[in-house]
Amino acid sequence: MGSEREPIAVIGTGYVGLVTAAGFAQVGSEVFCVDVDADKIARLNRGEMPIWEPGLGQCVARNRERLHFSTELAPALEHARLLFVAVGTPPTYSGDADLSAVHAVVASMPASDRHALVMKSTVPVGTGAAIKRGFADQGKPGFAYVSCPEFLKEGSALEDFLAPDRVVVGDDGDWAGDAVAELYAPLDSPLVRTDIASAEMVKLASNAFLATKISFINEIANVCEETGADVAEVARGMGLDHRIGTHFLRPGIGFGGSCFPKDVSALKQLAGNSGYHFQLLTAVIEVNELQKRRVIGKLQKHLGSLVGTTIALLGLAFKANTDDMREASSLVLAARLQADGANVRAFDPIAEHEARKLLVGVDFASSALDVLEGADACILVTEWPEFAGIDWAEVAERMRGRLVVDGRNFLDPEAVRAAGFLYEGVGR
Ligand SMILES: NC(=O)c1ccc[n+]([C@@H]2O[C@H](COP(=O)([O-])OP(=O)(O)OC[C@H]3O[C@@H](n4cnc5c(N)ncnc54)[C@H](O)[C@@H]3O)[C@@H](O)[C@H]2O)c1
Repeated sequence: MGSEREPIAVIGTGYVGLVTAAGFAQVGSEVFCVDVDADKIARLNRGEMPIWEPGLGQCVARNRERLHFSTELAPALEHARLLFVAVGTPPTYSGDADLSAVHAVVASMPASDRHALVMKSTVPVGTGAAIKRGFADQGKPGFAYVSCPEFLKEGSALEDFLAPDRVVVGDDGDWAGDAVAELYAPLDSPLVRTDIASAEMVKLASNAFLATKISFINEIANVCEETGADVAEVARGMGLDHRIGTHFLRPGIGFGGSCFPKDVSALKQLAGNSGYHFQLLTAVIEVNELQKRRVIGKLQKHLGSLVGTTIALLGLAFKANTDDMREASSLVLAARLQADGANVRAFDPIAEHEARKLLVGVDFASSALDVLEGADACILVTEWPEFAGIDWAEVAERMRGRLVVDGRNFLDPEAVRAAGFLYEGVGR
């Protein structure tokens, strides 16, 4: 492969951008990465990883000679015609997507008949059409545009990028769509060629559907708690129906992360802005918010008032195998516990650095055993594999209280109970 592969540029070197860059470098492209964060670029040039993602550091190191990092756009424009955009699109106060970073990238493009923007960032339907109109109005009508939404999951991002379930390419039928499809050809995955608006909607609808599945099983779990059914058994029985499938049927304390909450809300707002009230998504969001708070009720059921209690949080990241704390359920949980007068202690094997920026007044511990020392109750928030190996008999000697709330149905209830604890899972 190597030199005959098309060189590309990636603008924005966060979770998606850096993985995209490393992935395409792995299949043989020269990749020119651009980011406005000078510190991030300096770290990448020193060979340091700005984020924690399994296998990413090794992949970047392996393909170091094909990866170029700069704060300048010029080398990218000189060497590449496909400019992948992977800047953040966080939620605004209204729940719409904040497209200011996307607009900044678009504004920095020169007039060109040779380049294309390839949108990896998740954007509302209509964004591509608006950008194309903008290019035309600014005298840059030759600048091509492709929607190529990204579906990777943090924690297995590189794997997902290199073996995607599908690649979606939305374009207007010019050279750029074919060039992007060609770039993905070595990955040998199903290709969905479509128009730009439909490609944009595939991404939003996929995330909204997955979030709906989570809120659905969370509600089933809550009903199981009232009726004596075991949600794990229910999910097993449901999942074997191939129309339903086994994935995303694990109840917990709500979804978080940088994608589901913001994309569900962005789709709801998008629908609202176009005059349609998306009732189902309103419920999905509300169920998710209530789910994060149900844990407090479980603590109160056993401990009464939480004033003066010490509650230990096992894990803080929004899910295992990432350091991403964006919209993590732990943020709501810690704030609610503190508001109810509890002292909050926490341990996360990877996300502590990020968590410290967001959690005020939380006491950070250096290990799982350390965080449980003297606690009245503990809540398993993130399903880090190492928590499966906790020796609950040893914990029994260290904890003051006897309550374990398993927010992810991750622990072995029998092992926890055998050590003398009261076990509260979700729907079991
Ligand atoms: N994180 C995920 O799991 C995931 C998955 C699929 C899609 N997405 C979408 O991909 C996009 C990026 O998400 P992320 O998690 O990688 O974000 P991120 O915040 O980790 O990274 C964004 C990067 O863009 C840089 N940036 C901002 N403005 C810039 C500019 N004008 N020029 C160059 N660089 C700029 C930032 O400095 C940052 O490094 C979002 O739209 C997100 O919804 C994310």
